[in-house]
Amino acid sequence: MSVCKRIVTIDGPSGGGKSTVSRMLAAQLHFTYLDTGAMYRAVAYQCREKDIDLGESGQLEALLAAIRIELLPPEAGEDDVRVLVDGQDVGRNLRTPEMGMLASKVSVLPLVRASLTRLQQQIGASGQIVAEGRDTGTVVFPDAAWKFFLDASSQVRAHRRAEQLRSKGEMVDEQQLLAQIIQRDKDDRERTIAPLKAASDALTIDSTGLQVEEVVRLMYEKILLSSCCREE
Ligand code: DC
Repeated sequence: MSVCKRIVTIDGPSGGGKSTVSRMLAAQLHFTYLDTGAMYRAVAYQCREKDIDLGESGQLEALLAAIRIELLPPEAGEDDVRVLVDGQDVGRNLRTPEMGMLASKVSVLPLVRASLTRLQQQIGASGQIVAEGRDTGTVVFPDAAWKFFLDASSQVRAHRRAEQLRSKGEMVDEQQLLAQIIQRDKDDRERTIAPLKAASDALTIDSTGLQVEEVVRLMYEKILLSSCCREE
């Protein structure tokens, strides 16, 4: 039987505009937006809260077996998805550059990757999602119908992230942010398991000179123009 597995994956380095683009595209397609980075941030947050020794696989296993991560649509006027960890709304604590660095560190651990990949695949089992992350097109949903890799220069990405944080009233050192972005890209690209890279069948879009709306339109048109049919 020919079944359409309607999954869009959007991977790329931090600050490339993935979140905004993914959210807008999901809304246009009436798909669910799956922010996989928020899940890695949630695990990083809980490791810090519970003072987990990342070198102790027993401690980590226990945390992963017990943790409940729920992603809910953003509140009115907010951009980011709401993240509940064990029933508690921790979203605001997850969006700091420091938590991004810790999430990147936690994300190299095979136990963490296996657990979150499984959870993401369960969420996407019935399709109709736009998944955003580093490995959604390569590892989590290799059979996704539409794959994109969103890139931009590190300077532009640092500037965008700085503007985002400033709009939330935070003080930002843009040079420090740029250094963190370069370091995090390096860590994400060079790790052995599920490194950040474009899937061989992904369309790479460089958003350096593009507005968010233009990127979304490019993706939307590509999706409308291509068929989505696989034998299951
Ligand atoms: O997209 P983000 O900045 O919220 O992601 C935070 C970190 O989580 C990122 O530096 C690497 C990790 N991550 C990952 O390894 N795989 C994903 N699919 C998503 C995020």
